Amino acid sequence: MEITRQHILQWLREDDPRRLAELWQQADQVRRDSVGDQVHLRGLVEFSNHCVRSCGYCGLRLGNEVIARYRMTADGILASAHQAVRFGYGTLVLQSGEDEETSTRWMASVVRRVKSETPLAVTLSLGERGRDDLACWREAGADRYLLRFETSNRELFDKIHPSLPGRHSDRIAILHQLRELGYEVGSGVMIGIPGQTYDDLANDIELFRQLRLDMIGVGPYLPHPATPLGQFGDRLAAPPGEQVPNSEEMTYKVVALARLVCPKANIPSTTALATVNKEEGRELGLQRGANVVMPNLTPLEYRRLYEIYPSKACIQERAEDCHHCLSHRIAAIGREVGSGRGDSASHRHRSTPADPG
Ligand code: 5AD
Ligand code: FES
Repeated sequence: MEITRQHILQWLREDDPRRLAELWQQADQVRRDSVGDQVHLRGLVEFSNHCVRSCGYCGLRLGNEVIARYRMTADGILASAHQAVRFGYGTLVLQSGEDEETSTRWMASVVRRVKSETPLAVTLSLGERGRDDLACWREAGADRYLLRFETSNRELFDKIHPSLPGRHSDRIAILHQLRELGYEVGSGVMIGIPGQTYDDLANDIELFRQLRLDMIGVGPYLPHPATPLGQFGDRLAAPPGEQVPNSEEMTYKVVALARLVCPKANIPSTTALATVNKEEGRELGLQRGANVVMPNLTPLEYRRLYEIYPSKACIQERAEDCHHCLSHRIAAIGREVGSGRGDSASHRHRSTPADPG
């Protein structure tokens, strides 16, 4: 039976460790039954930290003049793609700030090169882009797109995402466009944004279900001192008892509930989770609903410049280090490294209605 909104809310407010153990167990079981024991590896290349936006929480925001900006070359990205193949990854995730210098054509040519030179699935995570761009990149061979809606509370969204002149954000509309274009669609939220209430978070999880997401990424909100929210976030907090904490435990709850509402989704145990618990955050995420990890392939010289939040995990590790670290962690909890591209089981089902499987 499908979990109701009321139950979602109850779990979000639950703090008895024995009851929570039931939630972890249930999510782990649904994960095993729906997507199996394989943990898929998605190599992440953070290829540009330029950004035209001023999101209240993000260290890459336009106004942050403290960080040096970089943009990798197409050849640099391709070198990382080949490294992903050598490590046995099935997917390359190309992520950047919302960089208007990333032209439609340039990005399409990078996608085309990756698709012709490697067997990798390509996931794009480039922020809010127009339908023509998304269509062109899909045409070029991009398989998946990640765009977190961050919060389903429109008022809160608008507070922390100032609009660009003449352009009002509508990420839900973009997620629908991505679906129409045949992408596997990923979204997600931050947990514990100042002003985010339990009701909001329950609505977010309900929206995961409504959107029938192929991929769901969630992580704790981590205050960045060079951002308005990092400096003045306390003033935005919801009343005590209503404000969602940005805690490790709350993050596991959302991972677990995401698994229950979208059993077949690919759900990463995120870097933000590894940041709040460097010892075992990744593992606990994988044992409470997640089935994906995203080893960082960004060349070391750029890593520390992609500082969306402080003390980010893996900031000094080379691609080889993350590769070995994660392979080891996956084996240590009795799971296997995924083979193949790790496509979305729900997407396959939807896009081939005649398929008896
Ligand atoms: N803390 C946690 N997550 C953050 N992100 C951006 N800034 C922060 C922060 N300060 C997340 C957003 C974005 C993803 C790439 O990183 O959810 O979608
Ligand atoms: Fe990067 Fe463990 S994943 S060091």
